[in-house]
Amino acid sequence: MKIELKYKTPLEWAVQAVDGIDEFLQDHADAERKVSNMCMSFIAKYPNRYEIIDELTQIAVEELLHFKQVYQLIQARGNQLSPIFHKDPYMKLLMPIFRSDRDLLFMDRLIVASIAELRGSERFGLIGKVAKDQNIAKFYTNLHLQELEHIDSFIKMALIYFPENEVNKRVEEILIKEAEVTESLPWRCAIH
Ligand SMILES: [Fe+2]
Ligand SMILES: [Fe+2]
Repeated sequence: MKIELKYKTPLEWAVQAVDGIDEFLQDHADAERKVSNMCMSFIAKYPNRYEIIDELTQIAVEELLHFKQVYQLIQARGNQLSPIFHKDPYMKLLMPIFRSDRDLLFMDRLIVASIAELRGSERFGLIGKVAKDQNIAKFYTNLHLQELEHIDSFIKMALIYFPENEVNKRVEEILIKEAEVTESLPWRCAIH
């Protein structure tokens, strides 16, 4: 299944974001840490979904490695991890999407995870194009490609448990909402 975002982030977004690259890196480190946690919390919430435990653990490890790499970039720039954690406005606005039924919530969580990976990948690619520091540009261009693989992983997990037509329909609905949410958010030196 090929998923395409319904709102394309303009390149100017990245130009503005790299103007505050230190602030951007702080937010990004936080985002990687959170997505690693999210994978492990899937396992805690759905321990009987054995078929996806290996894949979730693998993604959690990869995201943790991304956290480590971003943290190294922060340190290399002579900075430390900020003690202030900001709430992600993107996830907050996406919350009403989740349905309350246990199984449907599980499907929604996997699909939102996939679409959030797609958005992350899109934006890392843009940062890679405009970052002034060559190390940072290279890092983000690579990360853009690595995150692309996670998009399929979450959809494949959903397809183990739900019929393809239901997953497709829900992906379409969530893509529409995600585009609305993303377009509505003011630009910050942050991934969302
Ligand atoms: Fe990541
Ligand atoms: Fe990822």
